Amino acid sequence: MPEVLGKTDGLKNNILAELMQLYDLKVPPWQLVSPEIAVRMAKITTAVNREVNIFLDRKGNVLNVSIGDSNTVSLPELPGRRGAGRLSGIRCIHMHPGGNPQMSGIDHSALRIHKYDLMAAIGVNDEKPEESVLNFAIITGKDSYGQYTVQEYGVLQLDALETIFLPNIISSAEKLLSLTDDTMGTAAQRPEQTMLVSLEYGKQDRLWTSEDSLEELRQLAETAGAEVKAKFLQKRPKPDPGYFIGRGKVRDLALFAQQEDIDLCIFDEELSPAQQRNLEQALGIKVLDRTALILDIFAQRAQTNEGKLQVELAQLQYTLPRIMGQGLSLSRLGGGIGTRGPGETKLETDRRMIRDRIAYIKGCIDKVQNVRKLHRAKRNKNQVPSVSLVGYTNAGKSTLLNALTNADVYAQDQLFATLDPTTRQLALPDKRQAILTDTVGFIQRLPHQLIAAFKSTLEETLDADLLVHVIDVSHPLYKEQSEAVYRVLQEVGAEDKPVFSVFNKIDKLPEDSGLLTQLKEIPESICISAKKKIGLEELLEIIAEHLKLKSAEVTLLIPYSDSGMAARLFDTGTVLSQDYEADGIKMKVRMQTDEMNRWEKFMIKGEC
Ligand code: GTP
Repeated sequence: MPEVLGKTDGLKNNILAELMQLYDLKVPPWQLVSPEIAVRMAKITTAVNREVNIFLDRKGNVLNVSIGDSNTVSLPELPGRRGAGRLSGIRCIHMHPGGNPQMSGIDHSALRIHKYDLMAAIGVNDEKPEESVLNFAIITGKDSYGQYTVQEYGVLQLDALETIFLPNIISSAEKLLSLTDDTMGTAAQRPEQTMLVSLEYGKQDRLWTSEDSLEELRQLAETAGAEVKAKFLQKRPKPDPGYFIGRGKVRDLALFAQQEDIDLCIFDEELSPAQQRNLEQALGIKVLDRTALILDIFAQRAQTNEGKLQVELAQLQYTLPRIMGQGLSLSRLGGGIGTRGPGETKLETDRRMIRDRIAYIKGCIDKVQNVRKLHRAKRNKNQVPSVSLVGYTNAGKSTLLNALTNADVYAQDQLFATLDPTTRQLALPDKRQAILTDTVGFIQRLPHQLIAAFKSTLEETLDADLLVHVIDVSHPLYKEQSEAVYRVLQEVGAEDKPVFSVFNKIDKLPEDSGLLTQLKEIPESICISAKKKIGLEELLEIIAEHLKLKSAEVTLLIPYSDSGMAARLFDTGTVLSQDYEADGIKMKVRMQTDEMNRWEKFMIKGEC
């Protein structure tokens, strides 16, 4: 039951009733205080010549009404707030009898102690309460002694309150506070409270609905460590050039962000640098698009030196047009999603330095790749057949690699758990060895900067004798995901490679699923469960069979005068047997069919 707090002794019942009625009023959430409440409070103050205070939350609810000194009133704590780097979520509006809205040192210290969103003082005009005036103050940071600094603004007429958009004031104050609060670490540990936004416009050329895409964005955001609080979808004929979404929607989102204490807003579509900047200013929080989010996940996941360099390259190429010669906006300085990777100092440098860095990284990547090319050339020389796993992110590639090779590769129900290619020996049923490589998971609308940066790694890993396309058939959009994979394969020029489809996670399909029966009918495919190890032996047989097509067993007789050639055969293929006979060494070798010409003169015909 609400009650009037403070010095209520001696107050007449009608005054107490009027104070109680304040609890029933609500301030529009974007307003600092409504003129109606201000005038009612001013009238009570005039009647009793005491300060009246109200405390509002960010939704505009009146939490407390008190009379007397605002600093002595005990306030309810709002759950989940008041961490370092954050304001309390409560604002205090109080009256100054006598007309002067200028705040006292006590007012300012109450603002500091309670970390109010803001403190407002209304200088009451006893004659004409509706002509009272207002000052407000916010915390703006810390001074060199570690004391919060306060800035006071005014004098405002009550009717000017209409022109103030409260969410912007609070978010600026909170941002300034988070930048200077030295215990900010505690606040930073809180997962970034995130809202997701998508715009559906024009003719949708995507196979995915915007809802599907938003759902995937949610998974991506959570993979990056965010806590998704809300998803918004707006439909309009075309994007707004300045803000991407409509201006009204921007206002709603700003309000939502402020009320729900949101730190980050992620758009499902790519924003232009100007749109991103405008939105950050209007919402007062960090704004990212899908591309930046994916780049951030890649930055967190990259393990090898090469992977890290490639992600940095992609991030710099994304950042370059966004620098605009004026550094990044304030909201980016706080760290977290979208700021990992190249690091702030680098992000703040000018374009020329970024270009230099890009050139330097490209040089490093070239060097690493040359070394890898040498390894690959050696492998090719040894003619070890190679198989690469491709597939949409989370399809189960790493699980399959582990199951087939007893390896211990990070498999997680997270997007992009694997980033750097992992290569393992694969023992085939016909005793041959192959190389099995797990590649980065694909995704719809993979940022082009990333494809460009990873192109050579992808090209290399996809330059295999066989691509095994792992598809999670328990996912409702498995067909769309599979098409997205083919699109990336096309982009890196691997569409002509032999591909074999592996329908994974069949253990998740219901027993009587018609889908399983349908899938079993599809040629060049197999149904398996990598996790439950169903169908793996058959898969290995199929892989061996595919690789056999490219290689053959031949029997050669190498004269003793050419014994150096016998040694070379070990580099050319897999030597299955060798016998020392009267006229030379008889060797049974499995080699690639395109190698056979070179050895023709040693072949024992009819024994191939
Ligand atoms: P990225 O690294 O994102 O490309 O993922 P990935 O394709 O390597 O997938 P990963 O092997 O990490 O598996 C993703 C999730 O699916 C994990 O939680 C696995 O345990 C699960 N999973 C993989 N295969 C199966 C399966 O056959 N059945 C079931 N039920 N779950 C599976």
